[in-house]
Amino acid sequence: MPEQTAIVVGAGGTIGGASARALAADRDAVLCVDLDLQRAERTATAIRATGTSASAFQADAESADFATLVSGAVAADSEVTAVVHAVAYEEHVPSEQASLSSLQRSFAVGPLAAFALFRELLTAGHLVRGSALTAIGSLHASQPFANCLAYNAAHGALAQVVRTLAHEWADRGIRVNAVVPGWIRTDAEVTFYGEEFLDRAAGDLPLGRFGTAEDIAASVQFLSSEHASYISGSFLTVDGALSVSLARLTQESDT
Ligand SMILES: NC(=O)c1ccc[n+]([C@@H]2O[C@H](COP(=O)([O-])OP(=O)(O)OC[C@H]3O[C@@H](n4cnc5c(N)ncnc54)[C@H](O)[C@@H]3O)[C@@H](O)[C@H]2O)c1
Repeated sequence: MPEQTAIVVGAGGTIGGASARALAADRDAVLCVDLDLQRAERTATAIRATGTSASAFQADAESADFATLVSGAVAADSEVTAVVHAVAYEEHVPSEQASLSSLQRSFAVGPLAAFALFRELLTAGHLVRGSALTAIGSLHASQPFANCLAYNAAHGALAQVVRTLAHEWADRGIRVNAVVPGWIRTDAEVTFYGEEFLDRAAGDLPLGRFGTAEDIAASVQFLSSEHASYISGSFLTVDGALSVSLARLTQESDT
């Protein structure tokens, strides 16, 4: 039987790393792709410690040859049964000051890289019936984050990549979905907001806590499994009721 491989782009990151470790439980090998080779290697080392084969691969999602480089790193005889795209570029700046190059970068790293890789893996013959492609999306695809136009727009486009490929590739038995996280306490969030602010913010969230990378990874693992074999073109929101709780916040501020 051919080796079953998972590819995770952004595998050195918080959500990508947790997703790679979760997928390793059900696969023979994991290809951990990241711009930062050391971070990718850290995830690959953790996976190898569990007995699953894993390798780190350095590639820049923004570069034009990203998809061919990553696809070329897949062992010729292996089937890629899961692919996860967990990378975005965000610049926090009022829209009137946003540079076009930052918009281009957000699109290149997000929807363009995801689409190029998914298509390259398909045309190279690495995808099979049952392969599951999962993008890590964002609530900001539909609920814009102020001063983050490029990020919002790129996630909106990524959502359309998911919908379109799910539609077009359904007859090949390839499923395409997104996991849409709420507010996840990642290293990047801690760097951006600081521990003290996040500790206070956690109490205001509907479930009284932030999401974890493992919360997201569990959904990635589910969507990449046989249990989700009839799920495609779906957006699995994992936000602890954040996106349905606007009325709750309004009521509280009214009292
Ligand atoms: N953290 C959250 O609260 C949150 C919420 C919603 C959605 N998301 C989405 O989840 C995804 C992952 O977020 P995260 O918080 O785990 O990020 P992270 O910063 O922890 O990890 C991102 C990883 O991507 C790598 N990377 C960055 N640029 C790259 C490039 N050009 N090419 C290849 N690799 C690159 C980084 O080295 C890093 O290892 C993003 O798409 C983000 O939009 C995050």
